[in-house]
Parts: sequence; structure tokens; C-alpha cells
Amino acid sequence: MLQEYDKYFAQIASLKNEWIPFFKRYEMVLREVESDFTILDLEWQALHGYSPIENIKTRFKSPISLLKKMEKRGISFNQEAIREGIRDIAGIRVVTSFIEDVYMMLEHLKTREDLHILEIKDYIKNPKPSGYQSLHVIVESKLILSDSVVWVPAEIQIRTLSMDFWASLEHKLQYKYKGMEEIPEADREILRNIAKSSFENDVQMSILRQRLLDE
Ligand code: GTP
Ligand code: MG
Repeated sequence: MLQEYDKYFAQIASLKNEWIPFFKRYEMVLREVESDFTILDLEWQALHGYSPIENIKTRFKSPISLLKKMEKRGISFNQEAIREGIRDIAGIRVVTSFIEDVYMMLEHLKTREDLHILEIKDYIKNPKPSGYQSLHVIVESKLILSDSVVWVPAEIQIRTLSMDFWASLEHKLQYKYKGMEEIPEADREILRNIAKSSFENDVQMSILRQRLLDE
């Protein structure tokens, strides 16, 4: 009787052999891009005397949220389709000190030979209806493997501390409402206002910085 299951176990094992290397590349690209930013930060410290990066976080899309997104977008369980259709399996969030640092990093990314920029979504210039602000850069990063070179997609979110404060707390508040109704309109309005005043703080800090640099 139990032998009946053997063929299923064998199938699962072969599936694992096929999919583990596929997902491993996303883990590699997280390491690669995180180290690219760390190096940039170290160099900037040496040249300009301050560190533009406050912190870097990496996250790997959970299998559940990957499956949900595939279903929502009608993407089949096929490596090429997933690679083309879902570009945020590897996510890197870079939190900077000033708004200028966000755009300095974007300009830097454009010059790199080990990156292809696939898309830029500037939610700083064009905030989302929620009030969310951040610069999203979808890239493909070059990975040098033992016997090949591959390009793996990743989503880089670059934003200031102040934008990150808003996004992190708003995300937590969304969770409270998960599965329930949406956050009431009056409260969403409050969130939009907090986003605006957070951004105003960023602008004030930039003005102050510029003045001190000019002195
Ligand atoms: P997804 O299907 O969610 O990936 O949407 P998309 O492909 O249109 O990407 P989008 O550019 O909207 O960015 C998605 C990511 O940005 C999310 O996973 C969040 O990390 C972040 N994000 C976008 N909108 C909001 C928002 O209103 N609040 C917060 N806290 N984060 C947001
Ligand atoms: Mg690299």
C-alpha cells in the first residue's frame, strides 16, 4: 500500500531539483544588490564624509504571496512565465537620509554595467493615492555563476527615513484591517496628511542641508 505513495514522493523530489536552483538565484541577487549598495555607501562615506544609507533590508517573496500574485495575474506555474511576470520575488529596500540621496542612487544605478534597468516608478514625484512615496526601480542584475552568467530580476525600493516611517506604519495599520473592511475614508485622509507632512520634513531637511553646505 505505502509503495503507492513512492511515485508521488519521486515526483516531488524531481520538482524540488528543478525549482530549488530557480529560487536560489533570487537569494543570490539579494546578496549581490545588497553588497552593491553597501559598497556605494562605503565609498560615499570616504569621498563625502557622510553615509547616504540609513539601512538596507532584503526580503524574499513568500511562497503564499507568490502564488496569490500568480493567480491574480493569470501566470502559469512555469519558470519563464514567473521570471517575466513577477519581478519582485527579490526585494531590496534602501533607506536614505535625504531626498537627494534617493536620486543620486538612481543616477548611479543607470551607469552600472552589471544592471539593466527595466522600469522606474517614481512615487515620490507621483505619490500613490494612499499617500505612499518611494522610488521603485525594477532591475535585472548580473550574476556570475560557476559556469554561466545570468541576469536575475529584483525590485529596489529607495526612500528616505521619513517616507519609510510612513510606509512601515501604514502597512501595519493595513494589517489590522486585513480581511475586514478597508480603512475608513476619514482615517485614510489622516494617513494622506501624515504622508504630506512627512514629505514636508524631508524638504525642510534638504533646504537646511543645502544652506549648511553653501555656507
Ligand atoms: P504589487 O502587485 O503589490 O507588487 O503592485 P505593483 O506591481 O503595481 O507594484 P507597486 O509599484 O505598487 O509596488 C508594490 C510595493 O510597493 C508593495 O509591495 C509595497 O511594498 C509598496 N507599496 C505600494 N503601495 C503602497 C502603499 O500604499 N502603502 C505601503 N505601505 N506600501 C506600498
Ligand atoms: Mg554586482
